[in-house]
Amino acid sequence: MRDMNRSASPGSTPFEFGEDFAALPEYRATRTTEVDFAGLLDEPLKLYEDLQSGCGGQLWPAGMLLAKHMLRYHRDKLQHSRILELGAGGGLVGLTVARGCGGLDHPVFLTDMAEMESLMQHNITLNGLEDRAKARILNWGEPLSKEVVDLKPDIILAADCVYLEPTFPLLMQTLQDLLALAPSATVFFCVKKRRRADNQFLRVARKTFTVTEIEDEDRPVYSREGLFLYAFTQK
Ligand SMILES: C[S@@+](CC[C@H](N)C(=O)[O-])C[C@H]1O[C@@H](n2cnc3c(N)ncnc32)[C@H](O)[C@@H]1O
Repeated sequence: MRDMNRSASPGSTPFEFGEDFAALPEYRATRTTEVDFAGLLDEPLKLYEDLQSGCGGQLWPAGMLLAKHMLRYHRDKLQHSRILELGAGGGLVGLTVARGCGGLDHPVFLTDMAEMESLMQHNITLNGLEDRAKARILNWGEPLSKEVVDLKPDIILAADCVYLEPTFPLLMQTLQDLLALAPSATVFFCVKKRRRADNQFLRVARKTFTVTEIEDEDRPVYSREGLFLYAFTQK
């Protein structure tokens, strides 16, 4: 059951609410895209894109950046990790990790709202990754499921999850719940800054967690496009 005390309550949270909505992507026909991140994946990942279920149904630049970063810098370090992706959409980041970071002990949990579950599952099956990735519903701000509590994820992936202001406190609550569960966990957080409110999310994050900007050789290029990569850890 939903804990209403955790709902967004404009004016009673450290977040200010200005423009409520980022522009939603225009509707476009479904398609299947193949990505291999300039050869970093031996076998390309296929992503079915379908905006019918929501904006997570297409590939977003922050997801592409975080997926590539994980392959480049972490592919040999995640064998024993318990990995969970928030706001996974079609599952780009989590599936890239599941395919490209070989020999994982645990399946990668792709999570999003119920509307995205079938797309996440479709992309798991499309890539034959049923043994290495699981699609699950995780609504930000709601209590974590027993399965997630038992998993105690220690690598949390989140790409382009800062785009809709009323969800900021909910996302922050879930990040806090996850880091309380596994205090040594790292959140890899990739954001595209579009509006002033996005900085407000990061200001609250800095007060709540230790926030470190991550080194990446492509930083000079992607920072010009308003993309930033951070690690959040427990203070
Ligand atoms: C802009 S998309 C990014 C998708 C994907 N991470 C990527 O980078 O391609 C944001 C995602 O956050 C999810 N989302 C938004 N609000 C949410 C909430 N309250 N609980 C869980 N997921 C949410 C959306 O369904 C969507 O898939």
